[in-house]
Amino acid sequence: TAPGSLTGKRVVITAGPTREPIDPVRYISNHSSGKMGYALAAAARAAGAEVVLVSGPVSIAVPAGVEIRAVMTAEEMLEQADRAVDEGCDLFIATAAVADYRPDTCATDKIKKSNESMSLSLVRNPDTLATIAARDDAPFTVGFAAETRDIEHYALDKLTRKKLNMIVANDVSAPGLGFNSDNNSVIVFWPQGREAIGPGPKAVLAQRLIALIADQITEKAGP
Ligand code: PMT
Repeated sequence: TAPGSLTGKRVVITAGPTREPIDPVRYISNHSSGKMGYALAAAARAAGAEVVLVSGPVSIAVPAGVEIRAVMTAEEMLEQADRAVDEGCDLFIATAAVADYRPDTCATDKIKKSNESMSLSLVRNPDTLATIAARDDAPFTVGFAAETRDIEHYALDKLTRKKLNMIVANDVSAPGLGFNSDNNSVIVFWPQGREAIGPGPKAVLAQRLIALIADQITEKAGP
């Protein structure tokens, strides 16, 4: 295949936030818009791949030619991502901002404001990225790391701890970048190298990132 091409490859991408229900009308979530993941889905499709997007609730359009699997919670995200990988996957990219914790129960009825204070009991959510990377048949796996400080340290820790092929470190402390913005700035780390991309539009970053990943997949596969 030509440099930068993903022709014949199946790509699974997680995107957006998850919502963890507290009661029928409330949830815990975050500011992810899905823009980064959707831009990567479009770039992977343009590079010739078959793309499945496992997406939390967002309000942006699905890129043309991309298959969407809509999910709400972190548990649903793991289930759908695992199923999509079962169907065949050469490259897995996790851009989703998954809630690390969920309420241990979802109240059946709307919680009334009767007390002066209340507390929620939270339990850990499953980690989709770590689960996919730990499979015996793990695809080439790329994680994102949204950090506000010690970016390189935490990103490299995630690269080794989650057994990833590549990590995209995202400084989300700078205004106008990262969560719910059209622009982003990242540093990509892999075992043999690194590259800073941006600041710039997520669509432009996504194209460069897909080209970089495609080169690494080809290199890993050998001559
Ligand atoms: O959606 P946008 O508005 O465009 O914003 C894009 C973004 C800032 C959300 C994105 O670029 C980004 O940085 N995504 C990762 C967000 C994050 O919170 O990462 P994390 O450091 O908590 O998690 C590390 C990695 O593990 C991520 O690849 C994440 O998808 C994955 N993960 C984390 C927890 C979990 N339970 N399951 C996971 O798969």
